[in-house]
Amino acid sequence: MLTLESVHTYYGHIHALKGISLTVNEGEIVTLIGSNGAGKTTTLNTISGVLSARAGAIYLQEGDHSRRSPSAGGEHDLRLDRLPAHEVARLGVSQSPEGRKIFARLSVRENLAMGAFARTDRDGISGDLDRVLELFPRLQERLSQPGGTLSGGEQQMLAIGRALMSSPRILLLDEPSMGLAPILVQQIFQIIREINAQGTTILLVEQNAQAALQVANRGYVLETGNIVLSGAARDLLADPQVAEAYLGI
Ligand SMILES: Nc1ncnc2c1ncn2[C@@H]1O[C@H](COP(=O)(O)OP(=O)(O)O)[C@@H](O)[C@H]1O
Ligand SMILES: [Mg+2]
Repeated sequence: MLTLESVHTYYGHIHALKGISLTVNEGEIVTLIGSNGAGKTTTLNTISGVLSARAGAIYLQEGDHSRRSPSAGGEHDLRLDRLPAHEVARLGVSQSPEGRKIFARLSVRENLAMGAFARTDRDGISGDLDRVLELFPRLQERLSQPGGTLSGGEQQMLAIGRALMSSPRILLLDEPSMGLAPILVQQIFQIIREINAQGTTILLVEQNAQAALQVANRGYVLETGNIVLSGAARDLLADPQVAEAYLGI
């Protein structure tokens, strides 16, 4: 569904992504693991169009609601890397950013509504709101509370819920477990599984490699802007190199 071909991204002169290639197939959970500063967030931001790639290409397989898009490039693929972020979002790629970035003064309900900004299908939006509130009952209880008054775990739920409100084909999750108490970490990974089981493809960025590889089908290991290892999640979990560098074993 999503293909990155030798993607290079820079911050000025800093060469942050040095030719990243990866694929995410429809229905999968794929995880991108790596230490702090490896380039995980840069990869997600390049996919979502927040940053632009200086070289390489990013393709999204054409879906039902992208047929009308004038930006359609190849026969079955849309070229994402030349589109602005709002266009990428409209094509069904939705990001839950690192550090949550919720709107502190807007209510929970308003934060969720922001996730549906590009949609006009009222019935669909209200169906997705129900779905999000079912996944996150805590948000239901806090719908009219300002986002900034939520706990860290609740803010993470809100960030994921907001991303789901665009009814994405693929969800990009940036460190959903960061800063959460262990019991909440388990809960978040359970919810990631559930979202995927409901039909959403997921690209999951995590420093918690152990937990990420346990929910994922496949994984890629990123080191200073390069993919150094990839494979089935269970093989990566059993890989001594991964165990030593990322699992604390
Ligand atoms: N806004 C920025 N300006 C300059 N360098 C940046 C910026 N954001 C990230 N970097 C650098 O790019 C590299 C990758 O960062 P990042 O993608 O945030 O890593 P990760 O998400 O894996 O921790 C790091 O060396 C980081 O210092
Ligand atoms: Mg990051």
